[in-house]
Amino acid sequence: MEQLTVKTKSTSYGVHIGEKVYDLFATEYKDLLDNADKVGIFADAAAASYHLGKLEQALKKAAIPFEVHVLPAGEDCKTADNFFSCHSFLLQKNFTRQSILLAFGGGACGDLTGFVAATYMRGIPFLQCPTTILAHDSAVGGKTAINMPEGKNMVGSFHQPAGVLFQPDLFTTLPKREVRSGMAELIKHAIISDADWTESLLLNSDFPYFSAEELPAELLRGIRVKADIVAQDEFEHGNRKFLNFGHTLGHAVEAYFGFGKVSHGESVMIGMAYAFLMSEAYGGITKEFTNRFIRFANHAGYPMRAILDVEFKPLLEFMRKDKKVSSGDLVFVLLHSLGNPFTEKVSEIQCEQSYHDFVSRIKEEV
Ligand SMILES: NC(=O)c1ccc[n+]([C@@H]2O[C@H](COP(=O)([O-])OP(=O)(O)OC[C@H]3O[C@@H](n4cnc5c(N)ncnc54)[C@H](O)[C@@H]3O)[C@@H](O)[C@H]2O)c1
Ligand SMILES: [Zn+2]
Repeated sequence: MEQLTVKTKSTSYGVHIGEKVYDLFATEYKDLLDNADKVGIFADAAAASYHLGKLEQALKKAAIPFEVHVLPAGEDCKTADNFFSCHSFLLQKNFTRQSILLAFGGGACGDLTGFVAATYMRGIPFLQCPTTILAHDSAVGGKTAINMPEGKNMVGSFHQPAGVLFQPDLFTTLPKREVRSGMAELIKHAIISDADWTESLLLNSDFPYFSAEELPAELLRGIRVKADIVAQDEFEHGNRKFLNFGHTLGHAVEAYFGFGKVSHGESVMIGMAYAFLMSEAYGGITKEFTNRFIRFANHAGYPMRAILDVEFKPLLEFMRKDKKVSSGDLVFVLLHSLGNPFTEKVSEIQCEQSYHDFVSRIKEEV
């Protein structure tokens, strides 16, 4: 079992990854769970159908009683209605300020559970037990949120988990699309931190698929990048923005197609290619590199051609709504070089021009 510690100004917690990780309920997390008057598992329906037994058995073995609340699978759980029904569940089951929640699912379940934990009786602790590869990103760092009809993640808070427990054999049932989605965030962590690591991923013709032996080490590397950034800038006043690499256009693409149609990571992969193209003008990325990245992403199964018929205007509308907009310009994370990100305000007209270049580039390359 591997582990690292996330340290913020207000708290610190462990991130553990390995086959026997739920054994920690009987050891490292025993006191935390025993001291809680109630333990609630909020479980993604799909993750629960395959794997909930593993979590339940580990808790039973540690002699910890619990209640289970099954959530709609995936992004559908992040609604205001569902948020309030989670609170009703906790109230009806007599959870108190001394209770604790466990999030068992992907990033969606983790975001919702975290926000319920942040708000139930003004805040109770929670543990992240992620079941998707993408959650190597979302489960660490304490951002929690639900969606509004007007936009994604529009209501939420910062609430750090008390621990994060990854059991990698849960990832074996993930659909390929979800593996692609999670691995986009992994390569993002490489791109913003480490040129050699990025190069090794780009040279891997099997990307985004890793063997069961290789995957934990790669994920831990990604988690370390996120943990280091969160330690420096918990509330996103500075460097934490670098984690948004690829997300300004990525979120717009995801919203344009309707959440879930093109997955989060697939959209971010498109957004990263666009950010590389912009970095040709504002940073130090070469045209050859951007083209190579577009071909790499396409070869790895990311739907780069999905945007060929998409006009800029509707994407701009979504980008304007994004939290990253300041005073009429759009803010992008760009690169001086691999491992050296910076933020740049770019005018909407320039974004549009770059977008047309981007569409032509994709047509030429894939
Ligand atoms: N808080 C953060 O810092 C942060 C960062 C990145 C993303 N996010 C959020 O994370 C969410 C995306 O997370 P995600 O990609 O994990 O998506 P997800 O939680 O929607 O899960 C993806 C799909 O996989 C299914 N699933 C989950 N575990 C499974 C398993 N083990 N086997 C088979 N199927 C399984 C789910 O039911 C769902 O259909 C978005 O809502 C995004 O906003 C948050
Ligand atoms: Zn993301």
